[in-house]
Amino acid sequence: MVDVLLGLQWGDEGKGKIADFLTPSYDVVARFQGGPNAGHSLEINGKKHVLNTIPSGIFHENCINLIGNGVVIDPILLRAEIEKTIAAGADVRSRLYISKKAHLILPSHRLLDAASEKAKGDDKIGSTLRGISPTYQDKTGRSGLRIGDADSPDFKKLYTKALEKHISVFRYYAFDYQEELTRLESQWFEAVEYLRGFKQVNSEFFLHRHITEGKKVLAEGAQGSLLDLDFGSYPYVTSSNTISGGACVGLGLAPKHIRKVTGIFKAYCTRVGSGPFPTELNDETGEFLRTKGHEFGATTGRPRRTGWLDLPALKYAIMLSGVDELIMMKADVLSGLDTINAALSYEGCSDEEQCPFNIQGTTVTPVYKEFAGWQEDISVMRQYNELPESFRNYISFMEAECAVPIRIISIGPDREQTIQKK
Ligand code: IMP
Repeated sequence: MVDVLLGLQWGDEGKGKIADFLTPSYDVVARFQGGPNAGHSLEINGKKHVLNTIPSGIFHENCINLIGNGVVIDPILLRAEIEKTIAAGADVRSRLYISKKAHLILPSHRLLDAASEKAKGDDKIGSTLRGISPTYQDKTGRSGLRIGDADSPDFKKLYTKALEKHISVFRYYAFDYQEELTRLESQWFEAVEYLRGFKQVNSEFFLHRHITEGKKVLAEGAQGSLLDLDFGSYPYVTSSNTISGGACVGLGLAPKHIRKVTGIFKAYCTRVGSGPFPTELNDETGEFLRTKGHEFGATTGRPRRTGWLDLPALKYAIMLSGVDELIMMKADVLSGLDTINAALSYEGCSDEEQCPFNIQGTTVTPVYKEFAGWQEDISVMRQYNELPESFRNYISFMEAECAVPIRIISIGPDREQTIQKK
């Protein structure tokens, strides 16, 4: 039996905290897409940890953590992350499993990301510059390297062949790559060797065996549904499928094994990088949300763009992934506002096409509903019925609009600040 946990907006919904909260009831946590562009923040015993590629169950004893075939791995960054996580007390050696089919981010992929973004000028995607897109391009172009290839005596040859192609692209961009490539290459080969000391498996069989044995699996997504390669605000998207279907291909999982899809959303919206954001607030309320919500990238430190909750976009994400239950994050950030808005629709868009083909900011005007705010500090509350009436009204409205129950409300980073709604 597999449950899927996804972000329903533009990423940074707080999947790390929730995955950590939920993992004690799972035997396996499996990451199915993305790479070190993700940053999942967890707070363990009052200490903050950021995971980029390692699944969020790593701090739990007896939890198997699988990096799936759909993930792209930067050996240098994964090695550093493993060392940091071991130093923080997690038994990574026994708990981490890596799919042999996961593709490798080469040093030249990182540089290609930088070269491509530079060449795009004002149209840049705002990539995290971790080499994600060039690596997935080589995967679909059938010239990528997988971590299992490191066992081959021809590994160096495969690497050189891939690099030669990349060098021709650097020449096209007139991009100065040599110094940085030389700096990274030896570290990269050392890190690949280091990762060979960890358990590398044929993950589809490994996962299937655990499912057949009746183990409980949590498939963990990264980024958010609106950054999905096919359904996000293309081209301002990431390079993998972040919706629930991505769990099937990113793990070798048959759809019939999925029991439940849980979607996480923030009580407002944020986005990093470029691209349309219809409910964006470029005013003091936007600044209030950014400052109070600590809305700065966990991976890049970039300030996040902030805005009101966008229901057409949320309902679209729910539809794409067949979300069964919702988790609302960071509701405490809204405390202190006199009124709160949420976009109910976009002007001129029919019900059938709530999210138009191209949601460029200038062509989409949100229609808002205004809600009464609340002044109480809800971060100290522990029961649903303690919450202010105006907040409970806001929750009931969202549930009715989305036709999906909100099961958990998070009101702060700590595990304790998590209210389960019956
Ligand atoms: P890339 O995935 O690094 O190529 O970046 C593509 C777009 O996705 C950019 O707008 C990034 O800011 C965004 N992005 C990638 N990973 C994350 C994430 O984990 N959280 C939020 N945004 C992300």
